[in-house]
Amino acid sequence: MRDELLTPEPLEPGEVSDEVSLRPKTLADFVGQAELKEHLSIILEAARLRGQAADHLLFAGPPGLGKTTLATIVAGEMEAGIHVTSGPALERGGDLASILSQLAEGDVLFIDEIHRLSRAVEEVLYPAIEDFQLDIVLGKGPAARSIRMDVPRFTLVGATTRTGLITGPLRDRFGLVARLDYYEPSDLESIVTRAAGILDVRVDEDGASEIARRARGTPRIANRLLRRVRDFAEVRGTGLVDAVAAREGLRVFGVDERGLDKVDRALLVALCERFGGGPVGLSTLAISVSEPTETVEDVYEPFLIREGLLMRTPRGRVATPAAWAHIGKPAPAAAPDSAPPPGLFG
Ligand SMILES: Nc1ncnc2c1ncn2[C@@H]1O[C@H](COP(=O)(O)OP(=O)(O)OP(=O)(O)O)[C@@H](O)[C@H]1O
Ligand SMILES: [Mg+2]
Repeated sequence: MRDELLTPEPLEPGEVSDEVSLRPKTLADFVGQAELKEHLSIILEAARLRGQAADHLLFAGPPGLGKTTLATIVAGEMEAGIHVTSGPALERGGDLASILSQLAEGDVLFIDEIHRLSRAVEEVLYPAIEDFQLDIVLGKGPAARSIRMDVPRFTLVGATTRTGLITGPLRDRFGLVARLDYYEPSDLESIVTRAAGILDVRVDEDGASEIARRARGTPRIANRLLRRVRDFAEVRGTGLVDAVAAREGLRVFGVDERGLDKVDRALLVALCERFGGGPVGLSTLAISVSEPTETVEDVYEPFLIREGLLMRTPRGRVATPAAWAHIGKPAPAAAPDSAPPPGLFG
């Protein structure tokens, strides 16, 4: 069984309901991302004042930062219905057409993993989000004819872990393209404290800050680490999540001082020890830790890059001196061709 504490592996049934119950329902409850929250509150307020559906919104960023949460908040704040689907679930244009024909005025249509829409589905989506029109083809062959239907004014909310993969024409049709950033430890501490309240876990300030500090900047991981430390504290401690319980519990579950999990560390070790610090290609690196290339690119790398442990270069992935220090190995001396030419800095 996989035991990393990150996404994309499925949550246990109990944890799915936890994730739902921990999901903030209003913008006011949504911790952090101050700038995004301000933009969103203005857009939603203005739409409410005009009595219209809000403009289409795209949320981009690594897993677990709150994209799905924001989509449900948008529907909640607009007091609108929400229809949820995803790029891979919409196989043919007709799949999307049937959802569109069920929308009510002002509804939110949430399309997760919107970068994975097929071309045929995008073709149906464009007139729907631009002109609120739906073209339906009836019949086949020479007898086929197409009719135009009005679609009620709705708000499309898209989510993606890959802004780079969204085609220009699609991206340009959103009124707001928002990138979610990793959270600051102080925000994560509030998230842990809030979750502890909801889950009825006793946690003190030091315990919450220790978990926050090691949560890879990610609310979903903060909540999950809290549950694991709670388990640890109940079985091996007094039930109170304090600094000692957090440190010991996280060690047992393989989360290190910087919040790196087993796969993060395996990536750094492979990069440094097997490939001499790089440059090495992404797919080679992914194979060496037995993870899909996209998972390494979307889930692990963004955090390692932001921590200054790994660099993307045109020739491949490269370990930084901090990566060598983190795995406790001396960085090799600079290669001769990267040394400055003699005399230049003499
Ligand atoms: N700003 C926040 N404040 C409080 N809790 C949050 C916040 N953002 C996310 N969470 C918590 O983290 C969990 C995961 O968030 P969410 O499902 O919205 O992430 P996501 O960006 O949609 O991830 P994925 O890309 O994997 O779909 C939520 O259930 C919620 O409990
Ligand atoms: Mg999501």
